[in-house]
Amino acid sequence: MNGCVVVTGSAHGIGTSIAKAFLSTGARVLLADVNEHLLTATTSELKDVYGDLVFSVAADLSSPAGVEKVVAAAKQLPERVVCIVNNAADQTPGTTETTSVDMFQRTMFINVTAPFLLVQGLLDDLIATKGTVVNVGSLVGNQPIPGRVAYNTSKAAIAGLTRSLAVDLGHTGIRVNAVAPGHIMTDGEESWKAVYSDFQQSIFPTSYALGRVGHAEEVAAAVVFLASPAAHFISGITLPIDGGMSILCPETASFTAAAVARSLDG
Ligand SMILES: NC(=O)c1ccc[n+]([C@@H]2O[C@H](COP(=O)([O-])OP(=O)(O)OC[C@H]3O[C@@H](n4cnc5c(N)ncnc54)[C@H](O)[C@@H]3O)[C@@H](O)[C@H]2O)c1
Repeated sequence: MNGCVVVTGSAHGIGTSIAKAFLSTGARVLLADVNEHLLTATTSELKDVYGDLVFSVAADLSSPAGVEKVVAAAKQLPERVVCIVNNAADQTPGTTETTSVDMFQRTMFINVTAPFLLVQGLLDDLIATKGTVVNVGSLVGNQPIPGRVAYNTSKAAIAGLTRSLAVDLGHTGIRVNAVAPGHIMTDGEESWKAVYSDFQQSIFPTSYALGRVGHAEEVAAAVVFLASPAAHFISGITLPIDGGMSILCPETASFTAAAVARSLDG
């Protein structure tokens, strides 16, 4: 792919896989992340493989100033921006009782307002390149999980922002889409085992038609597809990347989970 791609939240996890996937197409990539330590390490790792295609900027996307920092860095790139991937997200847990105004507004700013402002800040590049935007949503935007009231709401809002931008900018040739991943293993099997009990690990796959959780590379491949000319009549969608979780009948999932639980009980 020609041109520059901005990927937020790319020092770790799905964002790093998205950056790698674009780099492997020959695109220049600007990594943007709040975690300076991880960003330095990831940038250096990617530079070892992709050399001067890799750029980075440390920025906290919880305020307009952080977004402006990313816009300013993007303006210094050798080519114009052809794609923005809004992947960074605040995932702070909180129930209706425990979520303060500040917590709610911070999550909404990082997950929804910052993506909007980044598109606004780089609009002249996107218009000039007939570029694309890919937002990273989540299946919780449609199927919220308990104890994540701000996060769930922000992921529903990013699907709405995706449709609104697609409609507003379509006449310029800019396409705007989103992906909605299910559970994605970002740090490999070992970290998954550290977070979830054996029981949870056996139950999770029963919620998926494909019988397993996903990998970051599988989200990245879909993001690159949506940004590519192969998707040039696709705009405004939120594409589930969830191994069929969102179409599985809840009873099917619970029967399978019950069968797994019985087999674990011996
Ligand atoms: N991993 C999953 O199971 C899953 C499922 C559905 C959706 N998602 C979505 O995928 C995206 C990436 O998730 P992940 O699992 O790779 O998370 P992650 O925590 O591994 O990576 C997120 C990155 O975003 C950065 N970030 C966080 N706040 C920031 C801020 N204020 N400014 C700049 N950067 C910031 C972090 O430093 C980190 O490098 C998120 O939008 C998340 O909501 C993940």
